[in-house]
Amino acid sequence: MSLFRQSPRDPEFVQNPYPAYQRMRDLGRAVFWEEYGFWCFPHFHEVHALLRDRRFGREVLHVAARKELGWTPEPEHLAPFSAFEAATMLEREPPVHTRLRGLVNRAFTARATDRVEPYVRALANRMIDEFTGDETDLLKTFCTPIPVYTIAHLLGMPAERTDDMLGWSHAMVAMYQFGRDRATEEAAVAATLEFSAFVEDYIATRRRNPGDDLLSHLIAAEEDGDRLSTQELVATCILLMNAGHEATVHAMGNAIKTLLETGVAAGDAFECAARAKRTVDELLRFDPPLHMFTRFALQDVRVGDVSLNKGDRVGLLLGAANRDPARYDAPDRFAIDREALTHTSFGGGIHFCVGAPLARLELAVALSALFERLPGLALSGTPRYADTYHFHGLEALQVRFNSGAC
Ligand code: HEM
Repeated sequence: MSLFRQSPRDPEFVQNPYPAYQRMRDLGRAVFWEEYGFWCFPHFHEVHALLRDRRFGREVLHVAARKELGWTPEPEHLAPFSAFEAATMLEREPPVHTRLRGLVNRAFTARATDRVEPYVRALANRMIDEFTGDETDLLKTFCTPIPVYTIAHLLGMPAERTDDMLGWSHAMVAMYQFGRDRATEEAAVAATLEFSAFVEDYIATRRRNPGDDLLSHLIAAEEDGDRLSTQELVATCILLMNAGHEATVHAMGNAIKTLLETGVAAGDAFECAARAKRTVDELLRFDPPLHMFTRFALQDVRVGDVSLNKGDRVGLLLGAANRDPARYDAPDRFAIDREALTHTSFGGGIHFCVGAPLARLELAVALSALFERLPGLALSGTPRYADTYHFHGLEALQVRFNSGAC
């Protein structure tokens, strides 16, 4: 067995997990990550294939199967959070997944998201206008507000409540961090209850006063009959709010760090829309904000040398697959002229990120505006990543800029 020992909370790993991923790939096609207690796949080939393999799924096996496998029942104090998860497309498989995803898909096609471009551009410029002095923490003043306001705008959620929604979201996604404790769980449950109550109330307001936004469209789908239950409507709304900003905030932070550290000329990186798109994808390959997603084996299955039983969990290491030398030349080099190759940062298969066109657009528009307006932008100090694996994002992004330039 290729046993791999590495605490996901080791400070060196948190700051730079890529050497550990190389060690994993050297060990074998699959490694048993001791701290997680399941098999993980660090090569591009397996990650790409398993994301699309219908013998694996996100849905925790139904109750009867769980009993048969001797699974312990979920602790009662987590019930509200589990009920929320179970009503979201992220945790479901077809046919429920197909129905839920079909309802939001149209709002996030490339064409539909293009319509939001003027909003994102104006927002990015407004954020830059609000910088004062000659130093700022971009994570707070730029990378966070842009995705949060944009997804709230698309959904039709009230912009003045974004601080509350941010707090609830952070508490909920902490459930996916390695080594979570009881306090984290209780905070996540409290946030789920408060966020759900808020969304339910807000839905009532929107029902009386619908607009041309995603929430109003989802409400219409609920009123249409059995296509969306109220619980699914609330959960979909919360999922979109949370997923709609958590990863994009850190994708943007990591991207700015990469551009400033590597000194790639912004004029080259964002010289036209096509080039900006390629730059964004190379940034997402090079330092993605989400490094691991898991799947359950839905049947007994063999992957290479590894035999898995129905119900076994496996880890798909997106961050490692993106640096696989079998797939990318000199994978540890950030190269905007790299031949356009797909990466795994948005997942793949039926759960492929619904918001990928939106995230790409936000990154291209916001980064172009930032580097155009502030040509002298430079890091002040070394940015540090937060201890939040499987998330990979910065604690802060302190920069200097020449205020005369904006
Ligand atoms: C750079 C930013 C983003 C990254 C790196 C990212 C990454 C991902 C990944 C890896 C998955 C697949 C999870 C799995 O296979 O288990 C996913 C799913 C999802 N993402 Fe994103 N995401 C980003 C932005 C967004 C945005 C802006 C939205 C807003 C709508 C969004 C909404 C979703 C949803 C709803 C799913 C679940 C899809 C499904 O289960 O069918 N994401 N994302």
